[in-house]
Amino acid sequence: MCGIVGFTGSDAALPVLLDGLASLEYRGYDSAGVALQVPGDGLWLRRRSGKLAELTGAVGDAPADATTGIGHTRWATHGRPSERNAHPQTDGSGDLAIVHNGIVENFLELREELEASGHEFRSETDTEVLAHLVADELAEGRSLADAVRSLLHSADGSFAVAVVHADDPGLIVAARRVSPLVAGVADEAAFVASDIPALLPHTREVLVVDDDQVVELRPGSVRITDLDGTELTPELRTITWDVEQAEKGGYEDFMLKEIHEQPAAVRDTLSGRTAPSGELMLDELRLSEDELRAVDKVFLVGCGTSYHAAMVAKYALEHWTRLPCEIDIASEFRYRDPVVDTRTLVVGVSQSGETADTIEAMKYAKRWDARIIAVTNVVDSSMARLADAVLYTHAGPEIGVAATKTHLAQVVALELLALYLAGLRGTRYTSEARDLLAELCEIPSRIETVIGRSDDIHPVAHELVDVRDFFFLGRGVGYPVAMEGALKLKEISYARAEAYPGGEMKHGPIALIEPGTVVVGVATRSHVYAKVLGNISEMRTRGATIVLVANDGDDTAAGLADHVLWVPSTIELFSPAVDTVALQLFAYHLAKERGRDVDKPRNLAKTVTVE
Ligand code: M6R
Repeated sequence: MCGIVGFTGSDAALPVLLDGLASLEYRGYDSAGVALQVPGDGLWLRRRSGKLAELTGAVGDAPADATTGIGHTRWATHGRPSERNAHPQTDGSGDLAIVHNGIVENFLELREELEASGHEFRSETDTEVLAHLVADELAEGRSLADAVRSLLHSADGSFAVAVVHADDPGLIVAARRVSPLVAGVADEAAFVASDIPALLPHTREVLVVDDDQVVELRPGSVRITDLDGTELTPELRTITWDVEQAEKGGYEDFMLKEIHEQPAAVRDTLSGRTAPSGELMLDELRLSEDELRAVDKVFLVGCGTSYHAAMVAKYALEHWTRLPCEIDIASEFRYRDPVVDTRTLVVGVSQSGETADTIEAMKYAKRWDARIIAVTNVVDSSMARLADAVLYTHAGPEIGVAATKTHLAQVVALELLALYLAGLRGTRYTSEARDLLAELCEIPSRIETVIGRSDDIHPVAHELVDVRDFFFLGRGVGYPVAMEGALKLKEISYARAEAYPGGEMKHGPIALIEPGTVVVGVATRSHVYAKVLGNISEMRTRGATIVLVANDGDDTAAGLADHVLWVPSTIELFSPAVDTVALQLFAYHLAKERGRDVDKPRNLAKTVTVE
């Protein structure tokens, strides 16, 4: 996720671009840049690594008479945060600049072709490929709009782009596929941006750009065309939100927005990595296949929600790779003298990549010369630098303290890693891996289905708002789902919530079950489904109120429950990525009913950098 902005008008462009970027910084903030058209003198470009303030402090010499330009605030996906990987990217001619939000899935292939035909690359970004492709089209005599349109034919993946060229004064061409893009028009001015907040100081009349559309902006006009160049009549929306609401995309809170972003977070994490053969592209691989084949044991370490993703992955890893796999809460790992050696693979799981407990666990493993992989959402974070290989979750920045979209992205990234290792070790047949990957690609639409049922989950939370004690039960991969459901409820609603494997209740905790206690069971279909229902019956007999996460149409589960949170079914090992969403929404609604600030729960920090 990144933020792009463009302005063309009769006023100075730079202040409009910098203000727009400031309101888009929530979309990414590891580097920023602008490109301005200088009347009669080409383009002026400035990029800086770090937060937007670094760029703002470096534009004192910008041409004041530039009235057209584009800007970018970055959340790195390809290439670490640095000045040369910051946007705008160029084709090296000095005449063309492009900003981009999204991922070009086939960029390696395109880059190879371009290099073979003589193009020189200066960055590690996928975006630079787009700059060279546009330049080639212009060299063939095409207009800037047609050159940008050609990107929609040659590039795969998700992207929103804005392009300026020195030979087309006053013109910005933008295009979109999947990644968001909005345009606005005012007297003698036109704007384009990744999100509405960047436009609000200038206009409340917004044009929504759809997939595979090209936008030509000139002062006072916006023209939208389709893939074939046919002019379209754009949909005009009047925005009534204030800036803060707009940053939240009209949602009440960042947490709710991020829950809704989960299908995209999962899609982007899978994007470009799901070759039918089961091959996985690790973002930064400093480990050979032989080193990975030699691994005889895996440790997965993380904290909080990341630990729960690791718990899910243990089931997948052991099942698919037949490697022994242990999971550890990172703060415990190095203090228990674990058996780690050169054939051990340690996977550190962390949204931020900066959690002190997980960093220390990884350093411990490094001292024993283990192989280390980081699964993180932040490019070039401490863990990414420490590890031998990195698998990034492309969830975009997460602002709500409660992890949601990054968790689901971790779950699918770790599932991919498990399939990759299984492929390397030859423990899964290619055809089986292909079927699994095909189902993994269906997960975003299953998540969408659950999110679409938020209004059915809300009344359940409403009815249980005053309950003091919750127990979350699950078995198999349903157990980490129960753990995560309980953690979400605890941290944002402050209700007491304990999670147990269903079979463990009879060994003690069942003494706490009495009328008024709520038991939330993860009862989706699995090889332990009948066992879970048996455990739920035991709770029901003792007077507990039962809430079940169950698969659509499961009358047996419904017969045992006071309330059902319905979810679509999927392959058992992937079910956490779907079932968890129902529990996130349950926790969200209950916390809101209790009047809590879900984005900033008490006593918590988004990133915990102390041990
Ligand atoms: O950045 P990390 O994933 O390493 O953070 C780990 C935990 O602090 C984090 O998951 C925490 O539990 C969240 N607040 C959960 O919602």
